[in-house]
Amino acid sequence: MAASNPECVAAFGAEMRKKHFAFAEGYQPLNHGSFGTFPKSVLEYQRQLQSQSEARPDTWIRYTYLDLLRASRSALAPLLGVQAGEVVLVPNATTGVNTVLRNLIFEEGDVVLTFSTIYGACNKTIESLSESCPVSSHQIEITYPVTDDEIVARFRAAIQNIKASGRVPKLAMFDAVLTFPGARFPWETLVTVCREHGVQSFMDAAHGIGHIDLEHLGSVGPDFMVSNCYKWLMVPRGCAVLYVPFRNQHLISSTVPTSWGYLPKTKRAAMSTQDYFDKLFDKVSTIDNTPYCCIPAALEFRSNVCGGEAKIREYCFDLAQRGAARMAEIFGTQPLENDSRCCFATVRLPLTLTELGPKVDGLAVAKWMKELTPAEYETYIPFKFYADAFWCRISAQIYLDITDFEWAAAIVLKICDRAKAREWNSR
Ligand SMILES: Cc1ncc(COP(=O)(O)O)c(C=O)c1O
Repeated sequence: MAASNPECVAAFGAEMRKKHFAFAEGYQPLNHGSFGTFPKSVLEYQRQLQSQSEARPDTWIRYTYLDLLRASRSALAPLLGVQAGEVVLVPNATTGVNTVLRNLIFEEGDVVLTFSTIYGACNKTIESLSESCPVSSHQIEITYPVTDDEIVARFRAAIQNIKASGRVPKLAMFDAVLTFPGARFPWETLVTVCREHGVQSFMDAAHGIGHIDLEHLGSVGPDFMVSNCYKWLMVPRGCAVLYVPFRNQHLISSTVPTSWGYLPKTKRAAMSTQDYFDKLFDKVSTIDNTPYCCIPAALEFRSNVCGGEAKIREYCFDLAQRGAARMAEIFGTQPLENDSRCCFATVRLPLTLTELGPKVDGLAVAKWMKELTPAEYETYIPFKFYADAFWCRISAQIYLDITDFEWAAAIVLKICDRAKAREWNSR
């Protein structure tokens, strides 16, 4: 059932997919959350830019690109309710996380607060940092389903406990939308709690821009934020926006990797902090910079063809909710309940560990299930063994409709039957 939207050129669902996206015939794109995808119009634009760059490499990379970069930063800023001078582009969220964490100066007793739902690579970044800096991390355990109030209460308690132990809760890192289970995090309240306690707030919004509304980000005011544009904003890979408000730009002295923009303290003292920050990120080493330049084209598609950010969100949130309910109905289980809405449908499978036999490793079975999906079913479905149960996470997107969730449910049921037949054991 495709949504008919008078402001849209193409209806969402199957028509959108056929007309505007480049998926292979017969492939079911159910996992937008991992790598995103972008429309054909943006792909064509990117190829034009790549051709221009190859026609005159020095002209394009040294000069033309800089104008396009400025245009992209200006186009992004309103989506975050911030100034263009407060956003720069980096290739991905991990680079953004490393950029911030490796610039901050930690002292003995400093603690970085995280939640147990943190993305693995971000957690590893903190672990790696602790090898060279006097910093430790404190992870707040949460297991879904959990209410936003409970998350905030545990966060407050953790800050108080760290202070009571004589250490300093220097920075808190938390997500905008979790990778798993797919749930929106109460980031606005967490930012406020950080401010109350003098803790720096760093929001990992890898699943943020183009997914949830972030136009109030500037007024909520986290200290740092990174968001992948290549996921939900439909910009080519790799492209992420790093937000550093003017008040914090003096804390960032180098990019990751350090490149030509870097100046030692004495030299950068001759420039304004804003100018230095601006120039630092202009050209970081040599990569394909065309994804950074495609932001206006992606926004044009989302506005002109899809009817704008709010319409996209409305469709995807609704589809995620209906899709999760329909899958749970087919399975005879429940979707993961969460206080607020996002584009992920996380649903419990009709499969238990005890059905699989004694001493079975649920993580290994979930991995086997996941690998079956591209190998045999022309799709990719993220399965997880979490909180003693098996789950799948489907990403709602404008090129899907409810029938795609029903298709996914049928495949999941087949895979569950194969798991019960212990096929994973024979590989
Ligand atoms: C919450 C979260 N943070 C960080 C990342 C890392 O993103 P990237 O691979 O673009 O660095 C992801 C990737 O999915 C993520 O889900």
